[in-house]
Amino acid sequence: MKKMAAVKHIFVVLLVLVIRWAEGRPQKYNVLDFHAFGDGETDDTEAFLRTWQAACNCRSQPVMVVPGGRTFLLAQIKFEGPCKSPITVQLDGKIVAPNKIWTSEEANLLTFCRVDSLTLDGNGVIDGQGAIWWDCYNHKRCDNRPILLGFAFCNNLVVKSINLTDSADKHMTLFQCSQVQVYNVSITAPGDSPNTDGITMASSNNISISSCFIQTGDDCVSILSHTTNVNVTNCTCGPGHGISVGSLGGSEIAQVEQITVSNCNFIGTMTGVRIKSWQGGKGYARGFLFESLNMTAVQYPIIIDQFYCPQGNCPKKDGGVAISDARFINIQGTSTERQAIRLLCSQSVNCRDIYLSNIDLCWMNHNAPANATILNAHGTTAGMVVPQIQFDTR
Ligand SMILES: *[C@@H]1O[C@H](CO)[C@@H](O)[C@H](O)[C@H]1NC(C)=O
Ligand SMILES: *[C@@H]1O[C@H](CO)[C@@H](O)[C@H](O)[C@H]1NC(C)=O
Ligand SMILES: *[C@@H]1O[C@H](CO)[C@@H](O)[C@H](O)[C@H]1NC(C)=O
Ligand SMILES: *[C@@H]1O[C@H](CO)[C@@H](O)[C@H](O)[C@H]1NC(C)=O
Ligand SMILES: *[C@@H]1O[C@H](CO)[C@@H](O)[C@H](O)[C@H]1NC(C)=O
Ligand SMILES: *[C@@H]1O[C@H](CO)[C@@H](O)[C@H](O)[C@H]1NC(C)=O
Ligand SMILES: *[C@@H]1O[C@H](CO)[C@@H](O)[C@H](O)[C@H]1NC(C)=O
Repeated sequence: MKKMAAVKHIFVVLLVLVIRWAEGRPQKYNVLDFHAFGDGETDDTEAFLRTWQAACNCRSQPVMVVPGGRTFLLAQIKFEGPCKSPITVQLDGKIVAPNKIWTSEEANLLTFCRVDSLTLDGNGVIDGQGAIWWDCYNHKRCDNRPILLGFAFCNNLVVKSINLTDSADKHMTLFQCSQVQVYNVSITAPGDSPNTDGITMASSNNISISSCFIQTGDDCVSILSHTTNVNVTNCTCGPGHGISVGSLGGSEIAQVEQITVSNCNFIGTMTGVRIKSWQGGKGYARGFLFESLNMTAVQYPIIIDQFYCPQGNCPKKDGGVAISDARFINIQGTSTERQAIRLLCSQSVNCRDIYLSNIDLCWMNHNAPANATILNAHGTTAGMVVPQIQFDTR
C-alpha cells in the first residue's frame, strides 16, 4: 500500500511538472491552422483575426505564426488588445494589400491597438502595392490613402527584421506608444512615391530605432509633437527627405525633447537632419543631439526652419515654437545645394544654444565652398566647422 501511495505521489508530481512545462512553453498559433489560404488571392483577413483572437486569449506567451513561402492577402485588419500575455507575431511569409483602390476612408492596412508587450519579428514582407495609389493621388483622385502598419497605444513594443515595402501612404506609424524598439527593419519604396514616410511617431516616448534601412519618397523618420526620448542610430536613409522633427506648431502646442540621431548615413536625400515649424506656433522643441552623421549627395544636410511653408503662401506671423539646445557634432560629407547649412529662426522667438562641432560639408562637384545661412540663431562652435557659421550676436 505504501508503495502504491508513493507511485501515485510521483505520478501526480510528474503530471504537475508536465502541465507547468506546457504552460511555460510558447504556444504557437499558425494562421494556416485557422484556414488562411496563403495563395495571395483569397482574402485571409478573417483567418488572421481568428488566429489573433485565439493567440491573444492565451496566457502562455503565444506566438502567432505567419509561415514563410506563402503570400497572404489582407484588407483592412485591426489586431486589438489587451492580450492575456506578452505576444509575438512571427512574420516569415508575405502579406500583400489588395492591388486596387480598396478604401476611400482614412485607414491602415494593419493596425495593432492597445497591445502591450508585442513583438513583431521575422524576415517576412508587408507589401502595400502602392503604385496604383500613388498614381491615383498624383492625378488628384485619392485624398485618403491607407497607412501600411499602424501601432496605437502599444507599450513595450518590439518590431524586428521585417521588410515594409510600397505603402500607399506612410509605412509605419506610432501613436501614443512607449518603450518601443525598432531594429533591423527595412523599408523600401521609390524615391518619387508621394508621402511614403518610413517611420512616423507622435505622442510617444522612449523610442529606439536602430540598424534600419529606409528608402522612401518622403521622410525617413519623422518625429511629431508630444514625443520625447527618441534615439535613431546606425540607420541608412535615402532616397527620401531625411530625418525630420516636425513640422511643429501647427494646431498643437509643440512639446518635443531628448531626440538623438547618431551613426547614420544619408544618401541622396533632400535633407539630412531637420527641425521644422510653422510661423506663429506655440511650445518648445529642445534637447537635440545629431552626431556622427555621414552625408552623401544630400541637398541640405543641416536645417532648422522656423518658416516651414511647403505651399509657399504663408503670411508673416509673430511667435513660434522655441527651439533650443540642438547640438550638431561630427557631421561630414557632401551637399548638392550650396547652402549646406540653413538655420532660419523666427525674429520673435530666436533659436538658442545651438552648438556645432567638427562639421565638414562640401558642395558636391563644385570647386567653390558650401555656405551657411543663419538667421536669428544663437550659439557656439568648436573645432572645425565648414562651412563657417556666423551666429547672431544680438
Ligand atoms: C536582419 O533582417 C534580415 C532580413 O529579415 C535577416 O535576414 C537578418 O538575419 C536580420 N539580422 C539580425 C542581426 O537580426
Ligand atoms: C523588401 O521587399 C521588397 C519586395 O519584396 C524587395 O523589393 C526589397 O528589396 C526588400 N528590401 C530589402 C532591404 O530586403
Ligand atoms: C522612459 O525611460 C526612462 C529611462 O530610460 C524611464 O525613466 C521612464 O520612466 C520611461 N518612460 C516611460 C513612460 O516609460
Ligand atoms: C537613448 O540614448 C541615451 C544615451 O545613450 C540613453 O540614455 C537613453 O536611455 C536612450 N533611450 C532609448 C529610448 O533608447
Ligand atoms: C550601432 O553600431 C555600433 C557599431 O557597429 C554598435 O557597437 C552599437 O551597438 C550599435 N547600436 C545599436 C543601438 O544597435
Ligand atoms: C560615408 O558614406 C560614403 C558613401 O556611402 C562611404 O563611401 C563612406 O565610407 C562613409 N564614411 C563613413 C565615415 O562612414
Ligand atoms: C549661399 O549660396 C547660395 C546659393 O548660391 C546663395 O543664394 C546665398 O546667398 C549664399 N549665402 C551666403 C550667406 O553667402
